[in-house]
Amino acid sequence: MTRVFSGIQPTGDVHLGNVLGAMVRWVDEQHRAESLYCVVDLHALTIPQDPAELRRSSLRLAQILLAVGLDPEICTLFVQSHVHEHAELAWIMQCTAAHGELSRMTQFKDKSARAGFVSAGLFTYPALMAADILLYDADEVPVGDDQRQHVELTRDLAERFNARYGATFTVPRATFPASGARVMDLQDPTSKMSKSAASTAGTILLLDEPKAIEKKIKRAVTDNDADVRFDVAAKPGVSNLLSILGACTGRSPEDAAAGYEQYGPLKSDAAAAVIELLEPIQARFRELEADPAETLRLLAIGANKASERAAATLARARDALGLLERG
Ligand code: AMP
Ligand code: TRP
Repeated sequence: MTRVFSGIQPTGDVHLGNVLGAMVRWVDEQHRAESLYCVVDLHALTIPQDPAELRRSSLRLAQILLAVGLDPEICTLFVQSHVHEHAELAWIMQCTAAHGELSRMTQFKDKSARAGFVSAGLFTYPALMAADILLYDADEVPVGDDQRQHVELTRDLAERFNARYGATFTVPRATFPASGARVMDLQDPTSKMSKSAASTAGTILLLDEPKAIEKKIKRAVTDNDADVRFDVAAKPGVSNLLSILGACTGRSPEDAAAGYEQYGPLKSDAAAAVIELLEPIQARFRELEADPAETLRLLAIGANKASERAAATLARARDALGLLERG
């Protein structure tokens, strides 16, 4: 059976792009493949975090993933720092990666140009990500386009290690969502909806009230020719609304366009569809939020399942490298 691994950082608020572009897909995939999903709190440490906020947002992200539909009986949902093998294999991956190849990572170049304090961890971040993936012999890694280069690096590191020390790791491949699942900013529909947007007017947050969702969609940027059709280049705003409506109702954006002659009804229906998608998720989230101990219990089950496999892989790597066994 295919094995899938993906990770998500517990920083920033979860938005509609994360839900439609990543989480909904994960929920489907858990039924198709043996899936592991990880809240990557160690990755968050590459940038200084407020401790209370990190703790809160890690728990909240796990609750959101459960609310969206990850089922801990079916998949393995866990927190990265609960499985110490991630940090250990990350060291081995740092010693497998070349300084030059890490320097060529575009995410590092972008982030380090913007950050005041550039930690060594920000530089070696892809080695930790490689460890995450390789520990579980993952075949597929569903990610957004921005992570493509990191998964390519993971493949290179696995192949290099295997060539030097003998077959140890499964070489994974990245998989990408259908293009329709890319959600754009409502105020600036040529940019991706993102937690780092300048204003939240163009971003629908998972936990936004229905009224706020309606208001944001009503105010979404469109254009003046009042023609409803899916054409990303000529009509980015309208196309984004069609993608959102389509994704929420299980249709292609082209199909979602049928029957509309004006922007008003399209906006009302898109808002209604988003609210219909998010309301039950929000309700489940509120239940989980009321009982943090239950979430911690579910995460411990996930960590135990993950640890078992991670320990076996790390033992293989240690042995291949010639690290002396403990008597
Ligand atoms: P990020 O919020 O950038 O850490 O992304 C977490 C996950 O959500 C990744 O798998 C991204 O590819 C996905 N994602 C983030 N923003 C969007 C978006 N605007 N549209 C679709 N998917 C997104
Ligand atoms: N780097 C990814 C991101 O920022 C998160 C991540 C960490 C990840 N480890 C992973 C994704 C392993 C896939 C597989 O989105």
